[in-house]
Amino acid sequence: MKILAIESSCDETAAAVVEDGRKILSSVVNSQIEEHKIYGGVVPEIASRRHTENICAVVSQALDDAGETLDSIDAVAVTYAPGLIGALLVGINFAKSVAFAKNKPLIPVHHLRGHIASNYLSFPDLKPPFICLVVSGGHSHIVKVSDYTKFEVIGRTRDDAAGEVFDKVARTIGFSYPGGVFIDKASKNGNPQAFKLPHPKVDGNPYDFSFSGLKTSVINLVHNATQKGEELNKDDIAATFQYKVCDILCSHTLSAMKDLGETRLVVAGGVSANSGLREMLIQRCKNNGVEVFFPKISLCGDNAAMIGSQAYYEYLSGNIADTSLNGIASLSIE
Ligand code: KG4
Ligand code: ZN
Repeated sequence: MKILAIESSCDETAAAVVEDGRKILSSVVNSQIEEHKIYGGVVPEIASRRHTENICAVVSQALDDAGETLDSIDAVAVTYAPGLIGALLVGINFAKSVAFAKNKPLIPVHHLRGHIASNYLSFPDLKPPFICLVVSGGHSHIVKVSDYTKFEVIGRTRDDAAGEVFDKVARTIGFSYPGGVFIDKASKNGNPQAFKLPHPKVDGNPYDFSFSGLKTSVINLVHNATQKGEELNKDDIAATFQYKVCDILCSHTLSAMKDLGETRLVVAGGVSANSGLREMLIQRCKNNGVEVFFPKISLCGDNAAMIGSQAYYEYLSGNIADTSLNGIASLSIE
């Protein structure tokens, strides 16, 4: 089954053709980052307008690259939640129009389910059940994936998402948006023990995260030094901060897995590209008898191939939308 997938939940206009959930026939990603960089973050109205301008060309390119047409594909899939509402609606309306005009099934896909599916494209034999650590710009979840369309959130951030704090700390030390990747690079030259940062705990669920206190500590560290006329080593700040975030993500995830008796961990979302997180998880998983999977680097960030992969399993489970499909800015993965 060949699915044309469309993703427009944030600042990437993306389209892909994916066969049977596992084979990428084409994948086109048009990133708007250069424009949003000027503002230090995504400007929702600009994102929607650029999606509107680019979507026809991106979809045409994806079809051409795959050697397919709107007539030859079997279904159309689209990210319908969560995300920037104006941005989501562009992709949804486009997908709906194609489904309506060509009389094809319309498959709605949750963005985070798509991120998890990026691992099905990276590991052809990988199947649920497993535990997934989803770390993106907007979400940080520990999810129990018992089947392709069966999810239970067992831990979540109470405040900022991991990617969000990477970007905010990066901005504080002078890196451009989105700063996660610059922190990652700078960390390689820094001392991860250069400063003392808190390991925030939350009451109630021991697997939940809280990153905003950590973010504030780094911001205060930098501002206090600036007020004294001192300049802290950026590489050391990046390395200390990154080590702490990774330590929190790893320890909460592995303690949840130990308590639940789970032995397979899948990582997903933009932050799964982080080299420090990969290194630390590989080491700690090995020590704890856990098998760990990371998506290919090219599939960590937002793309439509992951939406096309998840769409296949949504279709098999009967999840098909009618033409009243609407966008939802905030929606649980469950
Ligand atoms: O999953 P994603 O592409 O978009 C959302 O669904 O939010 O994640 C984007 C986030 C950004 O915060 C970005 O800084 C972060 O992923 N990111 C990284 C790295 N590459 C991307 N964070 C840390 N290290 C990286 N190498
Ligand atoms: Zn994403």
